[in-house]
Amino acid sequence: SSPFLIAPSLLSADFARLGEEVRDVIAAGADWIHFDVMDNHYVPNLTMGPMVCRAIKPYASVPIDVHLMVKPVDALVPQFAEAGADLISFHPEASEHVDRTLELIRSCGCRAGLVFNPATPLVWLEHVLDRLDFVLLMSVNPGFGGQRFIVHTLKKIVAARKMLDRYAEESGRRLLLEVDGGVNLDNIAEVAAAGADVFVAGSAVFGAARADDPHRYDSIIAGM
Ligand code: DX5
Ligand code: ZN
Repeated sequence: SSPFLIAPSLLSADFARLGEEVRDVIAAGADWIHFDVMDNHYVPNLTMGPMVCRAIKPYASVPIDVHLMVKPVDALVPQFAEAGADLISFHPEASEHVDRTLELIRSCGCRAGLVFNPATPLVWLEHVLDRLDFVLLMSVNPGFGGQRFIVHTLKKIVAARKMLDRYAEESGRRLLLEVDGGVNLDNIAEVAAAGADVFVAGSAVFGAARADDPHRYDSIIAGM
């Protein structure tokens, strides 16, 4: 119905029941499953690897959106592609050769995205737009769920939207703009107005739910 896509982040899901969490959040209307990979090196937290991606794949009837917060990046790309990832994004600071990593993601059959921390300048986009399928803007510093949305990133969303619109006019290719971190029912309209297409929401989706109700996510996602 809406042109926007909702990508619940499994980071705030119940890790003991990931398959059910994926199944129920998709039944509630999730468009993508956002899969946060942290390595205790690029970010100070440790989450899930390709084996967990493979384990949830049978439950995921929508694309799996793998957000790599790891350094180095390249070795994990084919592993996640084989484990069922549909989209793979990484942070440009974490790859020695950004262009090569983007090419690698596509050669593995996945859609490729570049991720921008709140302080990372958008100039990284300039020479790689043809290699990209989506752009992911962080609205918190990566590493943890449940952080507060950093309001000054709204200006950056507007700036990125302009760049992508200009590129779409020139190239005919419309890249998706995804926003990740602190998105909730109170600010999602503002984030949409700034120009985002895809909304990652971790704690706003999984934090509020009653554990035993299979329809626990229905009204939350319907409200987004
Ligand atoms: C943060 C992750 C986010 C996070 C979002 O490093 O990339 O995907 O899980 O969680 P919330 O929505 O709780 O900020
Ligand atoms: Zn993420």
